[in-house]
Amino acid sequence: MPELVIAIDGPSGSGKSSVSRRVAQALGLAYLDTGAIYRAATWWCLDQGVDLADPVAVLAAVREMPLDMGVDPSSPTVRVGETDVTAAIRSEDVTGAVSKVSSNLEVRAVLRQLQQDAIAHEGRPDSFSGGLGIVAEGRDITTVVAPEADVRVLLTASEEARLARRAREVHGSADASAVEATRAFVVQRDKKDSAVTSFLEAADGVVTIDSSELSFEETVQAVLELVERRR
Ligand code: DC
Repeated sequence: MPELVIAIDGPSGSGKSSVSRRVAQALGLAYLDTGAIYRAATWWCLDQGVDLADPVAVLAAVREMPLDMGVDPSSPTVRVGETDVTAAIRSEDVTGAVSKVSSNLEVRAVLRQLQQDAIAHEGRPDSFSGGLGIVAEGRDITTVVAPEADVRVLLTASEEARLARRAREVHGSADASAVEATRAFVVQRDKKDSAVTSFLEAADGVVTIDSSELSFEETVQAVLELVERRR
């Protein structure tokens, strides 16, 4: 196993992706965005013309997905076969459909194994981190995928803070109309996702960091301090 595994969980807009990437960069670790794996699976099903309402067909397609995750935190990439889907998996089509794939429990089992393999791979000297380890980020990573991680964090933020961040990301501003346009999307998606994953409350041994009142740098620092305490 890698020397250090850091698992970071949390709802949309908690900042878990950018914080995880920065922490990985600071420590020379690989970075795994598990949400991107669910997105890639969704992209693949759409690309293959699979009916997302047919769970058996979705499972069969996901089992065959030729996924290649690039784990460099300064430029994470996602490839499916010969296609670089790093940008395509952020499209509205994929974002709107991903819950249909991620709520399929058999698909989750396949993708969980894939995530665990990617984490274990970073224990190898010929991996990106050279055996140092990985920051893995996404729903249920601290509880189901990597419950044995050295550092487990639930990154939360108030709903207002999360909505404002997503609005800035998607619409370039956090004024009232941008926040409203974001609300349905963020709140509903978290509600759908929370039917199959639990990421709103910290499990035993998982440290909660509330970033509502913290800057990005302060949040990164808070995670680095937890790592330091573990050493
Ligand atoms: O974090 P994100 O928005 O990129 O995640 C995309 C979707 O995948 C989201 O709807 C939740 C789901 N997901 C999941 O069910 N389990 C994970 N470990 C990561 C993401």
